[in-house]
Amino acid sequence: MTVTIPVSGGEFRPYDVVVGRGLLAGLGAHVAPLARGRTVVVTDETVAAHHGPAVLAALKAGGVKARLLTVPPGEASKSFAELERVIDRLLAFKLDRSDLIVALGGGVVGDLAGLAAALFMRGIDFVQVPTTLLAQVDSSVGGKTAIDTPRGKNLVGAFHQPRLVVADIDVLATLPERQLKSGWAEVLKHGLICDRAFFDWLAGEGAKGADGDPEALQRAVVRSVEIKSAIVGEDEKEAGRRALLNLGHTFGHAIEAELDFDEDKLTHGEAVALGCAMAYRYSAAQGLCPAEEAERVEAVIAACGLPTRLKTVGSFKASALVARMAGDKKAEGGRLTLILARSIGDAFTARDVDARALTAFLEAEGAR
Ligand code: GLY
Repeated sequence: MTVTIPVSGGEFRPYDVVVGRGLLAGLGAHVAPLARGRTVVVTDETVAAHHGPAVLAALKAGGVKARLLTVPPGEASKSFAELERVIDRLLAFKLDRSDLIVALGGGVVGDLAGLAAALFMRGIDFVQVPTTLLAQVDSSVGGKTAIDTPRGKNLVGAFHQPRLVVADIDVLATLPERQLKSGWAEVLKHGLICDRAFFDWLAGEGAKGADGDPEALQRAVVRSVEIKSAIVGEDEKEAGRRALLNLGHTFGHAIEAELDFDEDKLTHGEAVALGCAMAYRYSAAQGLCPAEEAERVEAVIAACGLPTRLKTVGSFKASALVARMAGDKKAEGGRLTLILARSIGDAFTARDVDARALTAFLEAEGAR
């Protein structure tokens, strides 16, 4: 069954996230009402090989004449050079402000195409068609678009909400297992933030989703999008509650950065999973959350085949991790801010985190 989740807030035009099976085949009908002129499908070479011709045919069947614009797969495409190339192609195709971009792919394509849409002619409409679990439950919803610079990830970007998100569960069947599990980390994160009953389901019957069961995946995507859409609707620009979506990310980002963002060593989702386990253990160590809750979080994450212990992913200096965490762009004025938890389903923003306590914690976790 197809489920439609509305995303609405005070400051942006409401849009729908449509989640279901076999949606790519009917993409034309979803996109047609938004396609007033030309449509360009931005995708990467890997996704183009899997879905490019089928998506163009589906759009054509709905009366939408579209062409493909492909970028190389991988994080390196989130660059000024690739952004410039995409915008140059849009100009060469003679798009104007009434035209439409469709971002077909994972987080890299969504972030890059979304930023191109935000900048092109001061902003044109775009549709997200996420093809990874991580993009379906997180990056395609909420309007964050960005590229990286040599000084850090996602440092240049814009809030530009899509007009529509179409998440086809069936496309997840072609995802490598490691990528599916990485997306599952963001699913678990949503339960941990604010929905204990969802986390309980993910820990039990729902765990089939992490192994690719489409029905469990659909329920997990729908609930994740509902949670994210409620948070974004309340706080689009991350002035408050939206920061909760960074649970696990400040620990995780520091660890990823120390590993030079080498996805062979640690994917983003694996870093988030490890970061969530560490955030709960730190919360427990600070007396903010019962130790049994942190133990349960670790057990559930580990059962999905995701990392929970720092020592298993590399060797780290505590001071280097703390420096990264303090320099995280989410840190305000150098203060250390972390998303911590009182229990499963009850995360909160902790400001002025004590760097010495954090260093001692990281050393207890196995950092030097
Ligand atoms: N990925 C976190 C957010 O969209 O705010």
